Amino acid sequence: MKESKVDGGRLWASLMDMGRVGATSGGGSGRLALTDLDREARDLFVDWCRGAGCAVRIDRMGNIFARRAGTDEARSPIMTGSHLDTQPLGGKFDGVYGVLAGLEVVRALNDANIETEAPIDVVVWTDEEGVRFQSSMIASGIFAGMYDLDHGLSSADSNGNTMGEELERIGYAGPEPVGGYPVEAFFEAHIEQGPLLESEGKSVGVVLGAQGQRCYRVTVEGEEGHAGTLPMDQRRDALLGAARMIDAVNRVAFSHQPRPVITVGAIQARPNSPNTISGRTEFTVDSRHPDSDLLAAIGDDLRRVCAEIADAAGLDVNIEQTTHRPTITFDPSCITAIREAADGLGISHRDLYSAAGHDACNISLCAPTGMIFVPCEKGLSHNEKENAKPEDLTAGADVLLHAILGRANKESRR
Ligand code: GLV
Ligand code: MN
Ligand code: MN
Repeated sequence: MKESKVDGGRLWASLMDMGRVGATSGGGSGRLALTDLDREARDLFVDWCRGAGCAVRIDRMGNIFARRAGTDEARSPIMTGSHLDTQPLGGKFDGVYGVLAGLEVVRALNDANIETEAPIDVVVWTDEEGVRFQSSMIASGIFAGMYDLDHGLSSADSNGNTMGEELERIGYAGPEPVGGYPVEAFFEAHIEQGPLLESEGKSVGVVLGAQGQRCYRVTVEGEEGHAGTLPMDQRRDALLGAARMIDAVNRVAFSHQPRPVITVGAIQARPNSPNTISGRTEFTVDSRHPDSDLLAAIGDDLRRVCAEIADAAGLDVNIEQTTHRPTITFDPSCITAIREAADGLGISHRDLYSAAGHDACNISLCAPTGMIFVPCEKGLSHNEKENAKPEDLTAGADVLLHAILGRANKESRR
């Protein structure tokens, strides 16, 4: 079926239509998980899938599975997909591309009257970004058996609304169990979110694996006081302590080679009042590195530098690890399928590792998994200006189509 191709114009039009749901003034999308905008995006996707003849199932974590039937329904599905939620000021491609490339594969198979033996599930994983409930990729993690369902359903946002309640509210608390059945293979297409492919003029990245990640919540305790009356040398200022720790945590990154990436991206000072000294400040730390031992050593360093600063300032500090994702190696047969699909189509490619986390990293723990990257402009992502070229998006979706076809085996014309 070498001649089968996706319709790149249709894929681009779907991306632009989806991007209008929660469009931001800077040209991106802002659709936090399980908000009304997330519901709107999900509804649009489900409508499109039903229009393409798929049967839609939803599990208890709100993961959506749109199935194109195979000729042998006893066979385990081949899955493809990604996420529809975005960062608060996110782009139109992160996650959305993988979902809509999967839908485009289904549409292209329909157009060409190609049947596959194995069914194909296009999946939307709930809350990949982890912005609102502060724990990314939790729903694919439950699918892969990494966490309990209750842990996911009880995760709460800053207003105390749980994922379980929000799934009910938006109508996506489905009846199906989360995972627990075999998946023949999972392929996720995604923008690279880094500069390598663009700088080398390659259309596709064959992803070999992903670096590990440890995230922490640091809570600094001091004492509230009056900004006008409490002398400077008598303060226990939690926000000031946090500021010093943030600088020290950044310097930890520069003390290791090869250099890890460490980010403090969110901070909350209590009571967050201009004329009250903060008595309690919390901030997040996201640390990533391909070497698991070094990642653990970085965690020890973080604890040490924060404790030293707290001691010197008469503060208390508590550091809780909130995420630990191991370094991931993708399945050799999926990697080969992607590489061979690109070769067969004459599409330029190179091997690389993912610096970002993806649902595919979780799914790789329960099913053979591979990822296809496409270049994005200047490697920019988690940014409203995130952009990608239609021809690269089309090339990635063509590779996805052929990797799936190869795996679905024994495809035949109707
Ligand atoms: C996913 O967006 C990540 O944080 O890597
Ligand atoms: Mn993503
Ligand atoms: Mn993202």
